[in-house]
Amino acid sequence: MDRWEEEDGAAGAGTVVARVVYASRAEARGGIYAQMESIRASALRHNEPAGVATALLYQAGWFVQWKEGPADAVLRIMDRVATDPRHRDLRTVHRSRGPRLLCGPWSMAIVQSGETPFDMERRVLALKREVDAGEVFTPPAIWRRLSTPLRHPGSLLQQEADAFQRVLVCSAQGSDAFALVEWLARRHGADVVRRRFAGGHGQDVGTDYIDLLQDGRLLRVIAMARHGLHLPLTRAFLPDYSHVVLLLAEDADANAQLMVRVLSALRPLEDPPALLGIARTAQRHAEPAALAQRFGLDYASAEADVTHPAGCWQELQPLLAGERVQ
Ligand SMILES: Cc1cc2nc3c(=O)[nH]c(=O)nc-3n(C[C@H](O)[C@H](O)[C@H](O)COP(=O)(O)O)c2cc1C
Repeated sequence: MDRWEEEDGAAGAGTVVARVVYASRAEARGGIYAQMESIRASALRHNEPAGVATALLYQAGWFVQWKEGPADAVLRIMDRVATDPRHRDLRTVHRSRGPRLLCGPWSMAIVQSGETPFDMERRVLALKREVDAGEVFTPPAIWRRLSTPLRHPGSLLQQEADAFQRVLVCSAQGSDAFALVEWLARRHGADVVRRRFAGGHGQDVGTDYIDLLQDGRLLRVIAMARHGLHLPLTRAFLPDYSHVVLLLAEDADANAQLMVRVLSALRPLEDPPALLGIARTAQRHAEPAALAQRFGLDYASAEADVTHPAGCWQELQPLLAGERVQ
């Protein structure tokens, strides 16, 4: 367990930190991934000892950066970053004091989007206008509005742009979660949004999502590689999900490993999402359900072939109804 987890799980719980999110126009020279890795190396050198956590996003020619930590350390680092020639036009879109939401020093994300830098700029400016007019957002809501806003036409019918149900799907083996999102996209004629996340030490993971209208409700279904569950950025968004869907394997060890990852991610949450296990046979639920119960998590189950998205969704979809939308 590293210092961040200790702080998050025990003594530091409830600690109030300064939280800042800003957007800036990237002046990319060379590959963006290499550039982000070099920023990561600097950040791990300077931020970690100062107790500052950062999540850095690159999307459509823009960086978005979310920083949390002791106010003086955040300001000091921001001052240095502001003069970096790798970006310009810095715009602060969020400042608050509150609990630490990033449970580790570094996360980064690259979102593939068909947007131009101009589109992104329009979104940054629109959000800034709302913030300046007194609208209050949490750092995750700001991040979502900049990076992954709800684009479904159904969103125009609702007042709150961020009010939609979010469901995370992880498979114990293989990539069935991603196949489910692909299948939903084909069925709804919608585009999959593809992202890569990485933490402080290499190993990037994929996470794809699709927005859809299901029985009059707007729903975002997010496939996440199981080893992405530990990333601070993933964890910061977990409280926003109504359910974590587990596509269980025939292999009990693989299921147990997935449960360990899921439980360690959900355990620190005050109001964790419900678990929803899908397995080929009822027998496969026994261990995950017992583990969930031991840790006080709701566990609902259904039987379907997890390699078969249509059958899976048929079982899954009614179990998602009537749940929290936030
Ligand atoms: C978008 C962006 C975000 C950055 N974030 C950080 C950061 O959080 N911490 C940091 O030390 N450097 C960050 N940097 C890099 C700094 O501007 C600067 O290059 C670096 O801190 C210099 O330290 P070094 O010489 O030890 O690498 C960032 C740069 C950019 C373009």
